[in-house]
Amino acid sequence: MADVAEEYGTPVFVYDELHLRRRCREAVAAFGRDRVIYATKAFLCRAMAKLAYDEGMLLDVASGGELHVAMSAGVPASACTMHGNNKSSAELRQAIEAGVRYVTVDSFDEFDRIDALIASGVGTGLDVVLRITPGVSAHTHEFISTGQNDSKFGFNLANGDAHRAVNRARRSPSVNLVGVHCHIGSNVFEASSFARAAEVMADFAVPLDLPELVLGGGLGVAYVEGEEAPSITQWGNALLNACQALGVKSRVSVEPGRSIVAAAAMTLYTVGTIKHIPNVRTYVSVDGGMSDNPRPVLYGSGYESFLARAVDDSRDLTARLVGKHCESGDVLSFDARLPVDIRVGDLLAMPVTGAYGHSMGSNYNKITRPPVVFCSDGDARLVVRRETFSDLLATDVF
Ligand code: LLP
Repeated sequence: MADVAEEYGTPVFVYDELHLRRRCREAVAAFGRDRVIYATKAFLCRAMAKLAYDEGMLLDVASGGELHVAMSAGVPASACTMHGNNKSSAELRQAIEAGVRYVTVDSFDEFDRIDALIASGVGTGLDVVLRITPGVSAHTHEFISTGQNDSKFGFNLANGDAHRAVNRARRSPSVNLVGVHCHIGSNVFEASSFARAAEVMADFAVPLDLPELVLGGGLGVAYVEGEEAPSITQWGNALLNACQALGVKSRVSVEPGRSIVAAAAMTLYTVGTIKHIPNVRTYVSVDGGMSDNPRPVLYGSGYESFLARAVDDSRDLTARLVGKHCESGDVLSFDARLPVDIRVGDLLAMPVTGAYGHSMGSNYNKITRPPVVFCSDGDARLVVRRETFSDLLATDVF
C-alpha cells in the first residue's frame, strides 16, 4: 500500500483484482453464466466493465452514461440491460439503437415513450422486463430500501398496477415482454427478506410463464468488525431453492453490485491534521472525505480504519475521522478506532470502499477525484487516473 501511495499519491482507491474476479466467479458458479448481471452503479470504469464481462457476467446500466462506459469497454449491448425509474427518450433511443438485451420498464409513461420511439422508426421492437414493487420491506436504510409499497420504483403489485403493466406490455405493438423483476433494496443482510420477495414474485410470475425472473441485487456486505453477511453462494442457494420450491420455471437471474466490488477495495488517505480538543474529542483529518465517500454522511455508514504501517496494532484512540471539505458533515468515520500514536503524514487505509464510493464521488470544493488502481500478483496498474485542474475546466465554457 505504501508503494501504491508513493506512486499514485493519496487519496487513491486500490482494488484487489483477484478478489473482484473471485466474487464474479462465485456469483457465476451460484447462478450460472449470463444469469448474473453486474449492477454497474456500484463501481464502473472500463477496466471493471471488461473484467465483469470477461468473467461471464452481463452488465446492468441505470443511465445512458453507464451504457456508454460499458460499451466503450467493448461490452456488447446484447450483454447489457437497462434500468431507471425515469429513463429519458434519449436514453431509451440509445438503448434501442444499441440493441440492449432488454430494458426494465418502470412506469406506464415509459411504455408510451417506447411506443412513440418505435412508431417513429427507431428500431423495430424491444424486449422488456417489468419492474415490480412486491410490497416487501427490506431491513436496511430507508434511502436504499426499494421494495415497499411507498416507492418511486416499479409497478405496484398490491394495487393492481403490476397486472395492468403486464396487459399493457402484451397489448403493445412495440415491446416483447420477456420477464418480471424486483429489487427490494441494498445492503440487505436478512436472507428472510430475499426469500419473502422470491415467494411473492414466484406467485406473480409462475402463471405468467415468461422466460425471465430477475430478483435484483441487494446482498449486504460486512463493513465493520462484528458484522457478518451471507456469502454470494448462500444468497444463491436461498434464492434458487426458494424459486425451485415455488415451481418457477423461468431463468432466474440477479443483479449484484455491492457484494461483487465492496470488499475488493480500500481507500488510502494521508493524515494531514490531528486536533485534540480536551473533553470534547479528537479530530483526525485526511486528504479526501465526502467527495470520495459520501456514504457515512448519507446513510450513517460505518467503516474501519487502519494505519498502513501498523495494521495489527491495537486501536485504542477513538477519534472522528474527517475529510478536507468545508462542512462539519464531512465525516468518514464518526467513531474511528485508531492507534494512539497516529501522527501527521501517516498513511491511513479504509477497507471495504469498493462499492458506491468512487461511483458516488463528486468534485465538491473542486477537489480532484482520486485515481483507481488495480493490483494483481504484486503489480499495480492505473485504471482511472487522478483528475487534474484542467479536468475541472473541461466542461466550463466561460
Ligand atoms: N438492481 C437494482 C435495480 C438496483 O437499484 C440496485 C441498486 C442493484 C441492482 C444493486 O444493488 P446492490 O447489490 O449493490 O445492493 N448508494 C447506496 C446504494 C444504492 C443502491 C441502488 N440500487 C449505498 O451506497 O449504499
